[in-house]
Amino acid sequence: MPIVEDVSFYLHKNEFVTLLGPSGCGKSTILNMIAGIVPVEEGKVYIDGRDCTGEVGNVSYMYQKDLLLPWKKVIDNTILPLIIKGETVGEARKKAIPYLSLFGLEGFEYKYPFQLSGGMRQRAALLRTYMFSKDIVLLDEPFAGLDAITRYNMQSWLMQVADKVKATILFVTHDIEEAIYLSDRIYVLTERPARIKEEVKIQLSRPRERDIVTSTQFNRIKKHILLNLS
Ligand SMILES: Nc1ncnc2c1ncn2[C@@H]1O[C@H](COP(=O)(O)OP(=O)(O)OP(=O)(O)O)[C@@H](O)[C@H]1O
Ligand SMILES: [Mg+2]
Repeated sequence: MPIVEDVSFYLHKNEFVTLLGPSGCGKSTILNMIAGIVPVEEGKVYIDGRDCTGEVGNVSYMYQKDLLLPWKKVIDNTILPLIIKGETVGEARKKAIPYLSLFGLEGFEYKYPFQLSGGMRQRAALLRTYMFSKDIVLLDEPFAGLDAITRYNMQSWLMQVADKVKATILFVTHDIEEAIYLSDRIYVLTERPARIKEEVKIQLSRPRERDIVTSTQFNRIKKHILLNLS
């Protein structure tokens, strides 16, 4: 079954780019190809001009499910990338501790995932992704399972963190408002097989206030994307 067809796109350093498309169109497959965990039959993945097709370990990747290990405490979940690289638990924990408050997990370091709220679990998974320390971060629908209020708060929080840590982010969602609010650019994808229908530049100034989503300019972009999707 062809999943992706002729998809070609780029990210600039420190840019926030979103792949927006309907369920099942191939978004996760595209991220899996970039991360080198599914084989690519045709096409190439370049990072800084280097052909990285099929290579793992070049990007930080938060999978569509949070995949926290239920038997490990929050702090030990977040340091997994460092442990895999061969650091001791003591060293790795020391590196993670300063970030726990930035990720809203202060006081929950030694709890288990089941003792956290959905939003906290997502933040723990995001911190673990961040601890992988790659300049490019792939985030696959990180807020999909959350209620509307938590999701709103998490979007604002992610925007602030992205600004602070200066990451280059490739974000996946099927939520149009989330995509516009967070992104510098959006690639709108078609139904499977995924093709790029349109590239939308989001010329809303930063920092963006939460209520920007009710502005005329925001709604103009939203209407444009909605009409183009149907
Ligand atoms: N391991 C697999 N083997 C076979 N087909 C797969 C596999 N993973 C995904 N697919 C198929 O590829 C298509 C795209 O899946 P993908 O997970 O990339 O979609 P998606 O856009 O991420 O969807 P969603 O928004 O629901 O997460 C789907 O039709 C799915 O059935
Ligand atoms: Mg997916």
